[in-house]
Amino acid sequence: MSGGCSTLLSQGLLGSSRQCMAQEASSVVADSITIIDNRTGNQLEIPIERGGIAASEWQKLLPGVWFYDPGLTATAVCDSSITYLDGDNGILRYRGYPIEQLAEHSTYLEVAYLLLHGELPTAAQFDTWRHEVTYHTYIHENVRKRFLEGFHYDAHPMGMLVSAVAALSTFYLDAKQIFDPESRRKQIIRLIAKMPTLAAAAHRFSVGMPFVYPDNSLDFCSNFLSMMWKVAEPRFDANPVLARALDILFILHADHEQNCSTTAMRVVGSSHADPYSACAAACAALYGPRHGGANEAVIRMLTEIGSVERVPDFIRSVKEGTGGRLQGFGHRVYKSYDPRAKIIKRTADEVFAITGKNPLLDIALKLEEIALSDEYFTSRKLYPNVDFYSGLIYQAMGFPLEMFPVLFAIPRTAGWLAHWQELLDQDSKIVRPRQLYSGPEARDYVPIDRR
Ligand code: ACO
Repeated sequence: MSGGCSTLLSQGLLGSSRQCMAQEASSVVADSITIIDNRTGNQLEIPIERGGIAASEWQKLLPGVWFYDPGLTATAVCDSSITYLDGDNGILRYRGYPIEQLAEHSTYLEVAYLLLHGELPTAAQFDTWRHEVTYHTYIHENVRKRFLEGFHYDAHPMGMLVSAVAALSTFYLDAKQIFDPESRRKQIIRLIAKMPTLAAAAHRFSVGMPFVYPDNSLDFCSNFLSMMWKVAEPRFDANPVLARALDILFILHADHEQNCSTTAMRVVGSSHADPYSACAAACAALYGPRHGGANEAVIRMLTEIGSVERVPDFIRSVKEGTGGRLQGFGHRVYKSYDPRAKIIKRTADEVFAITGKNPLLDIALKLEEIALSDEYFTSRKLYPNVDFYSGLIYQAMGFPLEMFPVLFAIPRTAGWLAHWQELLDQDSKIVRPRQLYSGPEARDYVPIDRR
């Protein structure tokens, strides 16, 4: 080899045999990288499999040399067959099915089945699935009376949800049997079914309204809306357009491969904790404003901007670094338009036709228009993400801002459980990363009167 590649290799930096050899001797392409260990002079050839290097191979050849990757930005933590995401081309598929087709033709319950079982259900399988989920929506009276009602009157509904999900593990002791297929199936159904009930109960409590029991004659989303909004009427009939819009939002949020909360689910699941405890950890990860709280930040930003006329000034302040970030724009993985944002934009029009236009919509549209034609945003590949429009829909439907992460947690439960199940089926190792220690050297204890 000559030139750039050999220089890199002789400096002990990573060189890709595939790239170097393709450049310099296009006849041979090896799926490996070659590393020279400058400490020993050894040249090591490490195989690349499906675009990655297995840590086991790495450790065999270079024991004690760790990757330093705090945000796991360059580390594949698992092998998964659930969701495919191509951020450069704006592609998202669940089990191979394009998100656009699922949003148009499917329902959240069917998508949950797909994520968990790998295939779309037959009509008979779906009937059984729907029946089982519908008949597990009730929560134990003590979850509500003794647990949820014990919270302070102004408790945040997401804090209540995180705790309530964890508390379920104390009600279903069989959940510890994670390798018993029947027990596992039962906990999955319970979690999918009870999340809307817990979510609505948390909301009702936080606004001082009485709990509404599930209505088993309603579909998944209509039942949730009934538990949220029912007052004195014998039966709450949700507007079908709004129920369908919510269903679409649930489909779009059902999974997103190795995001922060799914990683939390996998990490806790890898210790063989029960699924309620693992799911509570995932909910807690979702609570953070960097993850499940971004759509709330969008609404706050739009409210603060206040009018379409002020949009250019706001954009200027973002570019100058004084106005913070343009919330709902940019994504770690998507470097083109988030496919979910496109679908949500269409759904927003349908919702606003019923609820009346969210007054913040015009500001959002102006922001998008200016940002998409501004070199600052286009050169950094910053496009609207799923959160840019979802908050506008939730707000128009009457959900308070505090419920936004809760609304995210309900459908993401299907994704979390699909990953949890996959992890157990793969008999994955417990997650236990390494660290680079930078603390003090060994030193002797000094008694308190001599410090
Ligand atoms: N507004 C303005 N500038 C931005 C934005 C934004 N929303 N996002 C990124 N940038 C700029 C950064 O300042 C940086 O510029 P520089 O190269 O001149 O320093 C460049 O784009 C790259 O930004 P990073 O922070 O390195 O990108 P990263 O991939 O780490 O961040 C993130 C992704 C966190 C989503 C970011 O784009 C952001 O903060 N967006 C706003 C919050 C948001 O909408 N979050 C929801 C994400 S979707 C979800 O979690 C469901």
